[in-house]
Formats: sequence, C-alpha cells, structure tokens
Amino acid sequence: MLKGTWMAPWNGRDRYWWLYYKPSKDTELVGQLCYEVGSHWIYNVKVVETMRGQGYGQKMMAEAVKYLVRKYKVDTLHLTCRTNNGPALHIYKKLGFVIVGTEYDELYRMTWKREQ
Ligand SMILES: CC(C)(COP(=O)(O)OP(=O)(O)OC[C@H]1O[C@@H](n2cnc3c(N)ncnc32)[C@H](O)[C@@H]1OP(=O)(O)O)[C@@H](O)C(=O)NCCC(=O)NCCS
Repeated sequence: MLKGTWMAPWNGRDRYWWLYYKPSKDTELVGQLCYEVGSHWIYNVKVVETMRGQGYGQKMMAEAVKYLVRKYKVDTLHLTCRTNNGPALHIYKKLGFVIVGTEYDELYRMTWKREQ
C-alpha cells in the first residue's frame, strides 16, 4: 500500500482505481488520481486547490508510479495533459513521461516507460 494513500474500486469491477493521496496519517486528503487497470491510463490527476504549489502533486505522482509498478508490474503508463498546463507538464516530464503525440492541438499524449 502506498504510504499515506489508499485505493478503492470505482465501479466494483476492479477496472478503475482511485488513488487518494494523504501526505501523512494526520493530514487531510490533498489529491487524487485514477488508474485504468489493463490499459495503464492515468486520469483525473488533481491536487486540492488550496494545497497546490507545495510539492504534493509531484510526491503523489511519484508514489503512484512506484505503487503501480509494484502492484501491477506495469512497465508503461499513459496520460494526456493540456499543452498549456505548465505545472502538470513539468511534473510529468520530471518523472520521466515523454510526449508521444498531440490530440486536437491542445492535448499532449504522454508515456512513461520503466527503465529496463
Ligand atoms: C497539476 C497539479 C496536480 C500539480 O500539483 P501541485 O501540488 O500544485 O504541484 P507541485 O507543487 O508538486 O509541483 C509544481 C511544479 O511545477 C512547477 N511550475 C509551476 N508553475 C509552472 C509553470 N507555469 N510552468 C512550468 N512549471 C511550473 C513548479 O516550480 C513545481 O516544480 P519544481 O518543484 O520542480 O520547482 C495541480 O496544479 C492541479 O491539481 N491542477 C488542476 C488539475 C490539473 O491540471 N491536473 C492535471 C491534469 S493533466
């Protein structure tokens, strides 16, 4: 289990998992993301508005990647990000996600691959 994080099935079929991020036992939830089992897509990455800009988004994503590698043995992850979303793009690139395509001129498709 991710430290400070727990997961719950979204639709009861174990297909989507919401990961909720709590930096420590005594703090409130600060963020969430959704992982689609099988396709390895990540959706709905979000940090509570008042908690942004304090490093939580990066910690949450880094922990999520580690968790998914451990739990699902993933070696690839996919997501999309708006081309003008500076903080999100910065975080994803820092974690090793690479732009692999563009959709409708406003979304980057990004992929992360586990180092062999
Ligand atoms: C994107 C989001 C999850 C980031 O979470 P966060 O906790 O605010 O992010 P962090 O504080 O961990 O990191 C922000 C990083 O972006 C950098 N940054 C901030 N503004 C930036 C900009 N305009 N351009 C590039 N980098 C920027 C910061 O310097 C920081 O990087 P650093 O630690 O290397 O200096 C959060 O802003 C959010 O929930 N946004 C609304 C939903 C959203 O856009 N989700 C992403 C969908 S793809």
